[in-house]
Amino acid sequence: LLLLLLLLLLIIIITDKYIIFNLECQRFVLRKPSLSISEKGVISVQAALYGRADTDTCSEGRPSRVTTAPIYVLLRCDGKKECEINIRDVATPDPCVGTFKYLDTNYTCLPAIHVVACEGSLAHLFCGQVISVYGADYGRRDETTCSYRRFSFQTRNTLCSGPTNKVAELCNGKNRCTFRVGSSLFGDPCRNTYKYLELAYVCESTPCTSSSATRGALISVQAALYGRADTDTCSEGRPVGQLTNTTCSQPGTEDLVKTRCDGKKECEINIRDVATPDPCVGTFKYLDTNYTCLPASQSTVTLKQPHRL
Ligand SMILES: *[C@@H]1O[C@H](CO)[C@@H](O)[C@H](O)[C@H]1NC(C)=O
Ligand SMILES: *[C@@H]1O[C@H](CO)[C@@H](O)[C@H](O)[C@H]1NC(C)=O
Ligand SMILES: *[C@@H]1O[C@H](CO)[C@@H](O)[C@H](O)[C@H]1NC(C)=O
Repeated sequence: LLLLLLLLLLIIIITDKYIIFNLECQRFVLRKPSLSISEKGVISVQAALYGRADTDTCSEGRPSRVTTAPIYVLLRCDGKKECEINIRDVATPDPCVGTFKYLDTNYTCLPAIHVVACEGSLAHLFCGQVISVYGADYGRRDETTCSYRRFSFQTRNTLCSGPTNKVAELCNGKNRCTFRVGSSLFGDPCRNTYKYLELAYVCESTPCTSSSATRGALISVQAALYGRADTDTCSEGRPVGQLTNTTCSQPGTEDLVKTRCDGKKECEINIRDVATPDPCVGTFKYLDTNYTCLPASQSTVTLKQPHRL
């Protein structure tokens, strides 16, 4: 799947120290010929600075146009659907007294599935394909989420943040994943507060290639066949005579695909390299490759990828 990421540029003018603003992911488009889905995504902050990096931005009517070295700030917004930042949290201490400052944030919206699971409950992640966890945080960042029948003292602490890699360790590379949300698994970032897990994950259609390219999953070819092993695969609109020979197999195909693809993140094979000489003239053939991604945790997913000639 090709994902069209929407790049949003947001510049907030800070006129006063109490402005709170939202980063919010609106819509994204999943691009595929006949399919166009719009959904909410999650935020991925690319860069954020507080201060002044040029003389033009937010300069209207301002006497002082002093440029300072940009102060890059860390925003805890990754993996969330929307994110509020209190400007006081980034504005103190003042990085450049006397200069009129602004907060400039570049972020993208990643198409992701957003899950909230309360402490003590079971979290379910499911993909038709392969789970890739984008971000997870166990704690409490607002008073309303998972607050039903809770004492107010249990929901009062909203500065409780516990980013965790545990969910990624448990679920990446699988197509389903269930675990109980609790401090025994994630550690306790804030005692006496009733916490929840907020996470975002994406379903990757090609398990060995990921946009973040950091997960290190590598192709391991299990089997490959060029020819025809059944009458159904790649049969649409073909005359029966081209489908009858189901014992057609190009010798050496598996070795060739293994040589080209094993240990790589992605690989391309020119169909001509396996198609000549023709192993069965008159039969409509396909390339069928089963592969897994290693190391992609215990559970592996097998994809069947027929290529039409
Ligand atoms: C955001 O992107 C714009 C345009 O590419 C760039 O001029 C600006 O410096 C970026 N802001 C940050 C904080 O990196
Ligand atoms: C790939 O796996 C499927 C399902 O197990 C099987 O039907 C098919 O024959 C396999 N392909 C090859 C080339 O071994
Ligand atoms: C299918 O093609 C192979 C390779 O050309 C050939 O050896 C075999 O006899 C054919 N089988 C049938 C049923 O025609």
